[in-house]
Amino acid sequence: MSLPVTHPLVDGRTTNSALVAAYSGEAPSRRPVWFMRQAGRSLPEYRALREGVGMLESCLRPELASEITLQPVRRHDVDAAIFFSDIVVPLLLAGVDVDIVPGVGPVMGSAVRTADDVARLRDAGPLTAQALEPVSEAVALTVAALGSTPLIGFAGAPFTLAAYLVEGRPSRDHLAARTLMHADPDTWRALTEWAADVTGAFLRAQVLAGASAAQLFDSWAGSLSLADYVTHAAPSSARALGSVAGLGVRTVHFGTGTSELLAAMRDVGADVIGVDYRLPLDEANRRLGGRTPLQGNIDPALLQAPWPVLEAHVRDVLARGALAPGHVANLGHGVPPDTDPEVLTRIVQLVHEA
Ligand code: CP3
Repeated sequence: MSLPVTHPLVDGRTTNSALVAAYSGEAPSRRPVWFMRQAGRSLPEYRALREGVGMLESCLRPELASEITLQPVRRHDVDAAIFFSDIVVPLLLAGVDVDIVPGVGPVMGSAVRTADDVARLRDAGPLTAQALEPVSEAVALTVAALGSTPLIGFAGAPFTLAAYLVEGRPSRDHLAARTLMHADPDTWRALTEWAADVTGAFLRAQVLAGASAAQLFDSWAGSLSLADYVTHAAPSSARALGSVAGLGVRTVHFGTGTSELLAAMRDVGADVIGVDYRLPLDEANRRLGGRTPLQGNIDPALLQAPWPVLEAHVRDVLARGALAPGHVANLGHGVPPDTDPEVLTRIVQLVHEA
C-alpha cells in the first residue's frame, strides 16, 4: 500500500517544508519549531470552543477537532500542526470504557489485569476504517486548510496505553503494569500486541488521510529499565510503527525520563528521537551516534521565567540541537495549561530569527 496521490507528500505541498526536511536529516530553509500540546488549554480560543463539550466528544467531532488543530498554527506561526485528539481515542473507538477526567487524565471503567480481560478486548474485533471515520475526516479537513504546513499525526505507544489500561487510571510509577509484565508475560504480550494494533490503526488512518509525519508518544517509558524496555515494550512499539512503515512518512518517537533508552527507542524503527528536558541535545546526539535527527527540548518550567532567562535557554537548545543531523525545536514535554501564549509566539520568532 502507498499514500494516495492527493497526499501532501505525494502532490508536493509539504515535501519541501522545513519540518519534513529536518526530520529527513536535510538542511531546512529555517529551524522548524512546534510545541507538544500546542492545541489546548493555554489558548483562550480553545477554552471558548470547548465550553460544554467533553474532551473525548470534542475529539470525535471532525469540524471541532480540525478547528482546534488549526488554532495554534494561526496564532504562533509554528512549522507544523499536531492533530488534536488523544492517545486514548483509539481505545474508545475499539470499545474500551474510557473517559478523560479534567485534572486527572484517562480513567477506565475497569482495569485490565487478567488473560480473560485481554481476551474480552480482543473479542471486540480489530479497529476498522469505518470506526476511525471521524479521525480520517478531521485529518482531511485539517490538511485541506493547512496548505503547505505539515500535519503531524500521533498515537500513544503500547506500553503507555497498557500502563493506563492495567492501572485503570494515571499512576506515578506504573507498578501494576510493571508487575504484570513480569508476573504474567504471556498476558502482557497479548495486551501490548492488541494495543499496538489498535494504536497502529489510529496512526495509519491519520497518515492515509494526509498527515505528513507521525509521532509515537511513549510518555511513561522512562519508568522502565533498559532491559525491561527492550524485552517488554520495544517489540510492541516496533509493531505499532510498522503500521506506517513503507509509506514514506518520517516517524518521531518521544518519551519522558528516557535518557537511557534513546538508542533503543530509535531502534524500534523511528527516524527521529524526541528528547525531554532532562538531557542536553548534544549529549543525546552523542548517545545516538550522531546519525539521528532530534526534536526538543526547551524546559517547560522556563516558560514562566523572565524573558532573558528563557531566551538564553532557547539559544542554548538551538546551539546544541544544531550539532545533530537535523533539529526541530520543541518543548521537552507538553505546554503547561497556565502558559502565556504570547511567550510561545515569541519563542517561535526567536527560533526563526536565530
Ligand atoms: O496539541 C497537542 O499536542 C495535540 C493534542 C494531544 C492531546 N493529548 C490533547 C489533550 C496530544 C498529542 C495528546 C497526547 C497524550 N494524551 C499523551 C502523550 C503526551 C504527553 O503529554 O505525555 C498522554 C499521556 C495523554 C493522556 C492524557 N490526556 C492526559 C494525561 C491528559 C491531561 C488530563 C488533565 O486534565 O490534566 C489528557 C487530556 C488532554 N489531552 C487535554 C488535551 C488538550 C486536556 C483536556 C482538556 O482540555 O479538557
